Amino acid sequence: MSEERSGWVVLKFGGTSVSTLENWQKIVSVVRKRREEGFKVCLVHSALSGVSNILQDIVEQPDENDLMQKVEQVKQKHIDLGKTLGIDTVDLLANDFEELGHIVKGIELIGEAGYRVHARLLAMGELMATKLGTAYLQKELDEALWLDARNYIKTIIRKNTTERSQIISAVSTTDYDQNTADALDKAGPVIVTQGFIGSDSEDKTVVLGRGGSDVSAAYFAAKIGAERLEIWTDVPGMFSVNPHAVPSARLLNHLSYEEAQEIATNGAHVLHPRSIMPARKHQIPIHVRCTQKPELSGTVISAEASEDEALVKAIAVRSDVILVSMESLGMWQEVGFLADAFDVFKHFGLSIDLVSTSQSNVTVSLDPGLNDHFQDIRDEFVEDLRRYCAVEVIEDVSAVSLLGRRIRTILHQLGSAFEAFQEHQVYLVSQAANDLNFTFVVESEQVDRLVRKLHEQVILQSGNQKSFGPTWSQLMNEESESKDDGEAWWKDKRGELLTLMEGNGSMYIYDTDTVKRYAELIQNIDAVSFGLYAMKANANTDILKTFHELGFGFECVSIGEVEKVFELFPDFDPQKILFTPNFAPKSEYEKGMELGVNVTLDNIYPLQKWPKIFKDKEVFLRIDPGHGGGHHEHVKTGGVQSKFGIPRFEIPELKELIATHNIQVKGLHAHIGSGIKDPQSWKDVAVILHNVAEDLGGVDILDLGGGFGIRENETQAGLDMKSVNESLNQFKEAHPQYDLWVEPGRFLVATAGVLLSKVTQLKGKGEMQYVGIETGMNSFIRPALYGARHTIVNLSKLDHPANQTVNIVGPICESGDKLGIDRLFPSSEEGDVILVANTGAYGKVMSSNYNLRAPAEEYVLN
Ligand code: LLP
Repeated sequence: MSEERSGWVVLKFGGTSVSTLENWQKIVSVVRKRREEGFKVCLVHSALSGVSNILQDIVEQPDENDLMQKVEQVKQKHIDLGKTLGIDTVDLLANDFEELGHIVKGIELIGEAGYRVHARLLAMGELMATKLGTAYLQKELDEALWLDARNYIKTIIRKNTTERSQIISAVSTTDYDQNTADALDKAGPVIVTQGFIGSDSEDKTVVLGRGGSDVSAAYFAAKIGAERLEIWTDVPGMFSVNPHAVPSARLLNHLSYEEAQEIATNGAHVLHPRSIMPARKHQIPIHVRCTQKPELSGTVISAEASEDEALVKAIAVRSDVILVSMESLGMWQEVGFLADAFDVFKHFGLSIDLVSTSQSNVTVSLDPGLNDHFQDIRDEFVEDLRRYCAVEVIEDVSAVSLLGRRIRTILHQLGSAFEAFQEHQVYLVSQAANDLNFTFVVESEQVDRLVRKLHEQVILQSGNQKSFGPTWSQLMNEESESKDDGEAWWKDKRGELLTLMEGNGSMYIYDTDTVKRYAELIQNIDAVSFGLYAMKANANTDILKTFHELGFGFECVSIGEVEKVFELFPDFDPQKILFTPNFAPKSEYEKGMELGVNVTLDNIYPLQKWPKIFKDKEVFLRIDPGHGGGHHEHVKTGGVQSKFGIPRFEIPELKELIATHNIQVKGLHAHIGSGIKDPQSWKDVAVILHNVAEDLGGVDILDLGGGFGIRENETQAGLDMKSVNESLNQFKEAHPQYDLWVEPGRFLVATAGVLLSKVTQLKGKGEMQYVGIETGMNSFIRPALYGARHTIVNLSKLDHPANQTVNIVGPICESGDKLGIDRLFPSSEEGDVILVANTGAYGKVMSSNYNLRAPAEEYVLN
């Protein structure tokens, strides 16, 4: 027996992939490409889309009177596709159509379909589709041969399995098989065969269960020792979370077999979980790719562990899990309690998935996929189990799993993720022994929100860039106009920027058109009646003038900022200023009230200690909604760990204070953090503020804060402003009585700013290359402070191939003075202009004279 690599690749195409001319053209080009690369091609494909469902209907409702009509439907699907492919299907499939008719006639006569007939009927879908596919390939490539998979996928008898599963979800061996390898070699170099079907020891047709085509392809790959297994589907790979629920889901570039198995088993429907083991056994790499977009590289699954560290790679959800909670005080004193209890599960054929134990309680979850019959036996089961303990069945819960590698070693880093659970009841927590999976069971209705939060906190903010590719939205070109598209204005203005840099070492440059474009995105949020610019993000005079012209108010965090506004715009309406100090001295509150601006109290201390300042006046109150958000721990401004806002448990005391001093609460305010990408976040805050407003009475304005995230680099997703808009519209419809305000900083100015600086020196330390530039953390501290990753390019050599990995560093006497780590860069030289993108927010304002190096000066393009 020889198992050396055979020169074969196995390509599997699913139903959608083989149902249109356009896709078939793509398939032909993939096959052609593999041939050019020197491979022989084994193409495994499914039935045309929709056909298996119709055939399944016939099996499930054999007594319906329109069965023959269903047969006609199936035939028509093939004829229609044949027409577009230029193939005479009626002729090609004449025998199959006849056979199909006979089988269904038989079912009609008898009024039922046994398992054997069931398998034969379903197999027809694959047999017909592959004949059509072969004919097309022969026409286009001249070298395709059709093989009947039943001659090679021989299934085995498993102990303790029913007749049904032997026939309907059959299993084959995963060993290398010389006969199959020889047969294919003889028939090659391009063969087409069926997914999903096989035959048993009596040579009778069997099928491999739902999703069986992936499994067939993996069997073929194993049996012929393929070099690679390619699963072509209608999504561009495996993602960090279900992309239909979370469009910022990131493509997973590479997975180990173990990781892929875990992700596939936990509910991602891209790849059948049973298809991984055969490939793994023979170390055959699996490539998951998208038929409609063959240019994308997809997800590669192989034995190679990626060099990056322990990491959460994906979040999976299994919905409608059922929990059984067993409570017994004496449980641990009783020998054999668990054995007795689990015996009841066994007796009722219930398969247990997760287990969690405490002093007096054992809770287990049942995976509904394996326990279809639970509802039928429920009462009997519960009664039986009650002999040993108090029993509660908890339904409508879902399991949310963090999947990755060595999760145990990074649990402490998941702190931010756990915050997301603070508000939700967690019924069960389980950490898999293989350390690849950490699962929580929570109420199903909480799941969407929780998953979005977890994804934002654990995956989008992960510094790891190697494992994660682009987002689903980017790959599917779904970025709508209303999204922050991070468009690189500086590419268009490159010449102008390079000229400006001629006599300068470093400069911050802001583009007014871009500021205006982002301002419009905020002004287009229908439900928001007033936008304030959080001037802490960038207090450049021209930028402030732009916002003034555009009708924005100003959110000021210090009396210095308030004074700057009045200095620039002496007649400015003070009511358009929101002053939001935090732990500021008494004098600033006095000054704020004196100037007539809206003063926000974010602590009850000023009311307790300095009530005179506020007596008989109007104020805003900053409420801590109890949770924070944002791109980094340092910028979260909600929850008990944060110093901001009045906690909700102090509201009764607050009510007394405002009543005693006759204070009017004009508005409520909350700001939970900065760099938030969850579009629902502002609505969530609005709901909490509304609850507080109901409690206080008489509140007109809800200020939902800033925090709108942006794309800081090419791998991140932007904030989906359309969804922000929709969610706030929902709130506004339900609560039209409020004026809604927002106060973004970053979103309005970040993308409009670039930091330019010239290359000073180059250095190579073995593998590590350093590109030094004139300014560093003294101008831009975000990478050092938050590990922020900003796009960096060599503007002078924008079109040169980026073929080196470098660190871009400044001249400051700190090892942390790195603006970019591990960046793909062109070969650079002294004097080149390097551009750090999206630095218009929290750039210049956070700069310093550290090392007595003056930070970059600002320049505004109008
Ligand atoms: N409103 C209040 C009360 C704030 O504290 C902040 C920011 C904003 C609005 C504006 O947040 P934005 O829309 O810009 O996210 N230096 C950090 C950001 C600190 C944000 C402080 N507060 C960074 O560079 O990421």
